[in-house]
Amino acid sequence: MSNKSFIHIIGTGAYVPSKVLTNRDLEKMVETSDEWITTRTGIKERRVAAKDEATSDLAIRAAKRAIEDAGIKADAIELIIVATATPDMFFPSTGCFVQKALGIKEAVSFDVSAACSGFLYALESAKALMESGPYKTGLVIGAEKLSGITNWEDRGTCVLFGDGAGAAVLQKRATAGGILSTYLRSDASYTDILNVPGGGSRAPGTRAHIHMEGKEVFKLAVHKMISAAQEALKRAGKKDSDLALLIPHQANLRIIEAIAQRVDIPRERVFVNVDKYGNMSAATTIVALDEARRQGRVRKGDLVELIAFGAGLTWGAAVVQF
Ligand code: ACO
Repeated sequence: MSNKSFIHIIGTGAYVPSKVLTNRDLEKMVETSDEWITTRTGIKERRVAAKDEATSDLAIRAAKRAIEDAGIKADAIELIIVATATPDMFFPSTGCFVQKALGIKEAVSFDVSAACSGFLYALESAKALMESGPYKTGLVIGAEKLSGITNWEDRGTCVLFGDGAGAAVLQKRATAGGILSTYLRSDASYTDILNVPGGGSRAPGTRAHIHMEGKEVFKLAVHKMISAAQEALKRAGKKDSDLALLIPHQANLRIIEAIAQRVDIPRERVFVNVDKYGNMSAATTIVALDEARRQGRVRKGDLVELIAFGAGLTWGAAVVQF
């Protein structure tokens, strides 16, 4: 008898702050227009956390919804990985704050830093630990408060980002399915084109904002996400036409459309919610997956692929059977 195990996503949840910042609101803050933002990015509005709302506060709400969706008790969770570029503090990890709020006495909690690809990095990490270790139930979260590192006077970047969190409960099962494959990559020759150049040990105590060379990032994002999508499908022994839904990183509608043109699935099977939230970095793909599930767009047995791209550069994909 085979003792092979499979890591399934058994519940998802999301939370976005209640404050909506529209393109019209931004017109009053910087020299921009709803028309420019919409045609260049597809974004119409984004959410902004309250001053006293930290990344873990968003993560905890998303986690509670995922736990409820999974129908488990929080203390069944043995492993918590939070993907974030905007942790509450240098330490403890955001994962530890989530553990505390969920009342889990002992677990293994830590954060993963891979910018917009963070959720997929965290997902593969959890999968590998659960396959090889004693953990049966895990919680993987993507959560960001990007508003805290956004330069609200720079029209080139402030229109792009938003705050939010998404969570997935993973369970090790003997039944085939779940996370069929993942594919992750980083190319560190591009550390200069997308970064937050301050606040860390390179320049302690400084305040810094997101720096991005948009055109260069755009070209690489399209190219890398398409290759990741193909590689992860190949590893799963599937092809793009098998997908019920493709969930690309929600950074820019034009990037999503460039990807959609290169895959062999109808446009309506490519998920889009960038119009409502902008780029929430590590939270984007998991918030999108949760929305898609709650809209009834992911049914039992469906094959879904998540793809992401971000600073590092980092990129990756995951193929999941529900
Ligand atoms: N409103 C009005 N005008 C603007 C704005 C704005 N908000 N922002 C820039 N402009 C102006 C520029 O100043 C420039 O003016 P100029 O020609 O007089 O110099 C003009 O618009 C064109 O600017 P570009 O930067 O060339 O515009 P582009 O078409 O490249 O669009 C954008 C910019 C939307 C940022 C695009 O490059 C993009 O989406 N890049 C990818 C972003 C991305 O995917 N990031 C993902 C990773 S993010 C992460 O990991 C955290």
